[in-house]
Amino acid sequence: MTHQIRRATADDAGRLAALAAVTFPLACPPGSRPADIAAHLANTLSEANFRSYLADPAVTVLVIDAGGELRGYSLLAARPARDPDVAAVLTLLPSTELSKCYVHPDHHGLGAAAELMHACIGAAAAAGARGIWLGVNDQNARAIRFYEKSGFRKVGTKSFRLGSTVEHDFVMERPVTP
Ligand SMILES: CC(C)(COP(=O)(O)OP(=O)(O)OC[C@H]1O[C@@H](n2cnc3c(N)ncnc32)[C@H](O)[C@@H]1OP(=O)(O)O)[C@@H](O)C(=O)NCCC(=O)NCCS
Repeated sequence: MTHQIRRATADDAGRLAALAAVTFPLACPPGSRPADIAAHLANTLSEANFRSYLADPAVTVLVIDAGGELRGYSLLAARPARDPDVAAVLTLLPSTELSKCYVHPDHHGLGAAAELMHACIGAAAAAGARGIWLGVNDQNARAIRFYEKSGFRKVGTKSFRLGSTVEHDFVMERPVTP
């Protein structure tokens, strides 16, 4: 795949929402209710949501752009963790949250995710962070393995509400400079 990793702009909001609709369900545990997934997409990952993320000065959205088609994206938020369970376990401050990290399934296992992660760490470093943290569903073995390969380690747990269900996430952290 010939592609570049670049910062998203407001023009990408619709394509980001379309990509999120394909990739978010892949991060959900097998028993997740389709209605809860649909509600999360509508309330958190819509085109309008992406427009507001892209307008937020604390947020950086990076995309894998293959000839105008978006094949992956990440969203970094450079602000203190709001969840007390997260704030209590982070050791490398200030820490940027890697809030979303998704690659289209046609490109899994091909190294694109590692390139995206490299760009994320570069963006966090440029913003002055010492650490980078994320939450990942405790059943998402592929993503956990990817994050461990990328230098993250588990430092705690938190909960994540998906509709009526409370899901359990691992909190993972890595230094911005290895
Ligand atoms: C997470 C994601 C970005 C990683 O990208 P990727 O291209 O799949 O990553 P890689 O192939 O480099 O690494 C995945 C690792 O998990 C392993 N793996 C795959 N399926 C697995 C499973 N069911 N259980 C355990 N490990 C698994 C792979 O073998 C690989 O490890 P290896 O390189 O040691 O063999 C991508 O899978 C993705 O977008 N997933 C869907 C959305 C998602 O879950 N995002 C994360 C939300 S927190």
